Amino acid sequence: MAMNRREMLIGAACATTGTLVLSPGARAGDFSERKRLQFPKLLDARTTGRFGLTAMEGSVNFTGRATSKTYGFNQDYLGPTLQISNGAVQAKIQNTLNEPITVHWHGLLLPGVQDGGPHQEIARGQSWTPQLDVAQAPSTAWYHTHIHEHTARQVYQGLAGVIQVTDGRDQDRGLPNSYGENDLLLVLQDKRLDDAGGMSYRPHMMDLMHGFVGNQILVNGQSDGLAVVPRGIVRLRLLNASNARIFSLFLEDGRPMHMIATDGGYLSKSMAVQQLRLSPGERAEVLVDFGQAGSTSLMSAEHANVGSGGMMGGMMGGMSRMTDAFRDRSFVVLPFSVDDRLKSSIDRLPDQIESDVSALEGKAVRQRRISLDMSMGPGMMHGGMGAGFAINGRPFDIERIDFNVAKGTVEHWTVESPMLAHPFHVHGAYFQVLSENGNKPGVENQGWKDTILVDKQVELLIRFDHAAAEQKPFMFHCHILEHEDAGMMGQFSVT
Ligand code: C2O
Ligand code: CU
Ligand code: CU
Repeated sequence: MAMNRREMLIGAACATTGTLVLSPGARAGDFSERKRLQFPKLLDARTTGRFGLTAMEGSVNFTGRATSKTYGFNQDYLGPTLQISNGAVQAKIQNTLNEPITVHWHGLLLPGVQDGGPHQEIARGQSWTPQLDVAQAPSTAWYHTHIHEHTARQVYQGLAGVIQVTDGRDQDRGLPNSYGENDLLLVLQDKRLDDAGGMSYRPHMMDLMHGFVGNQILVNGQSDGLAVVPRGIVRLRLLNASNARIFSLFLEDGRPMHMIATDGGYLSKSMAVQQLRLSPGERAEVLVDFGQAGSTSLMSAEHANVGSGGMMGGMMGGMSRMTDAFRDRSFVVLPFSVDDRLKSSIDRLPDQIESDVSALEGKAVRQRRISLDMSMGPGMMHGGMGAGFAINGRPFDIERIDFNVAKGTVEHWTVESPMLAHPFHVHGAYFQVLSENGNKPGVENQGWKDTILVDKQVELLIRFDHAAAEQKPFMFHCHILEHEDAGMMGQFSVT
């Protein structure tokens, strides 16, 4: 593939400063070694009203150099893309692994008994057959294991997949919807590969503190993907399914992305963004115009989530190797190549998008303060010097319900994270963002959300329409999975 001048310049720049992602295929400019990007198989449950997922062991050669042991649903790594629409959907999950798992539907608005959180273990050899009562606007959600204290390792091994809730009307909305053609699902992850090219999950103390960040970017489980796109408007459905990496996405040639949906569904109109921050657990849907301009690459700036000041700052100062790894740098997430023989059925951006974003302002009946706490001290983790993870001073306790919310009400939550930025997620409810650090929320935080990166303080209006008894409560937690497992999680009932 021919390289343009800009790609060559970027490639040269990267060669001198070094990129975080060290594999040669990750350098901007030279994509000749790359293979066509694969998309997860579609599992269409819209007409059948049922689907089956089998958690199984697998192996994947991520780099062509070494095989890694993985987990997947119905396949070696990750799972199929579920397409569902509103109504009753019968699920059957079988666990053939040697350890218990759960399957949580992140982004589906379901009652607590269907939610698949840590109270709904599927023991080895067992199955779980919930009926999901789906009733929500079209959106991109996902599913992943949520087992008590082992979510990070199991998700890292591959127990995750995407859910597309559709109403079959995207064509009327003027939105691209041909899966894998002009509607591209991009599951963004990172892996830490050893010298041999294999993946292992052995977090050190610093990994627990900042979350486990990798040195190789995967898109849909592939390290060397090249997305072939048609001329015209292409939709990207982005999911950050990394354990801890925060992406700051942009297009290499400066072309804007037009945001059309957040976690909970469509915005009422598309909004242009130059840079899109996507933290673990978040989804975003954007349109990219490949009509006039040609090929480009999806890039990410390094997000340095190393905290500031105080004890954390002092500690970080002493750890030059770590600060090095977090230095501000950009890297290629996925190159695109326009194939002129292909044409997208959509060649213009929609003016308006029919959406269900109704303002919650003035409806809150009570306030809560949620503080995402990290404390440093000896003996708090693995018997050594470490960080204690908690919410409002209390680490997660699966026996303790933190509070009850009145069903059908709206609450005003002020969520604070004084040290690092933490992606905050609530089960069973969507929220709207009132403010971020006192300011109007950024484009990525408009519309309905279920996960938001809290970098100091956010104010949320949350609508609780789904019931959860104390036996099967909803979770609220940091979606840096190492933090969640270490105790930055709480649970509430809705009655
Ligand atoms: Cu995506 Cu509680 O999880
Ligand atoms: Cu969730
Ligand atoms: Cu966190």
